[in-house]
Amino acid sequence: MVNLGILTISDKGYAGQRYDESSKVIRDSLSLLDSRAVKYEVVPDEADIIASKLAEWADEGDVDIILTTGGTGLSRRDVTPEATLSIVDRVVPGLVEVMRAETFKTTPLAILSRAVAGVRGKCLIINLPGSPKAVRECLEVVLPALPHAVEIIKEEVTEHTALDVGRG
Ligand code: MTE
Repeated sequence: MVNLGILTISDKGYAGQRYDESSKVIRDSLSLLDSRAVKYEVVPDEADIIASKLAEWADEGDVDIILTTGGTGLSRRDVTPEATLSIVDRVVPGLVEVMRAETFKTTPLAILSRAVAGVRGKCLIINLPGSPKAVRECLEVVLPALPHAVEIIKEEVTEHTALDVGRG
């Protein structure tokens, strides 16, 4: 069972001016895995608030993966990648590289997301863009790798078994 934290980062969402459909898409997409959402919150586009929430959830130890949505673009208020980088121990570039590269094939605007991914302690943190469509597209790409990523981070596998993780 993978324990998820979902952090929606949106000034409008935080102010109650926008329905948070993206977190629903995350829940729906992740239902394909053996997972459950144990943390959920909407925060404004403020780097210190985002960073402390991510660190708090990761350090509590209840959450295996935190998926953020929003704040990865090019506007002045988009600070999710910087906040994430400020609290991770190590970056995991492949996850976001492939997210951009694969979804770019159908959505040229995919390369406008500056999303990052990294590990803090035993928690994997992945930024997703803000739109529900983008969330669906990006999660589809990385989903097959997530259970094994969690196993490794939690040190539940000690040797690399031959995994048949198909690409669908
Ligand atoms: N990635 C995919 N797969 N599909 C999309 O529709 N939208 C892009 C990009 N990534 C998109 C995507 C757009 S238009 C922007 S501005 C950036 O994500 C950043 O979005 P954010 O600021 O909401 O995080």
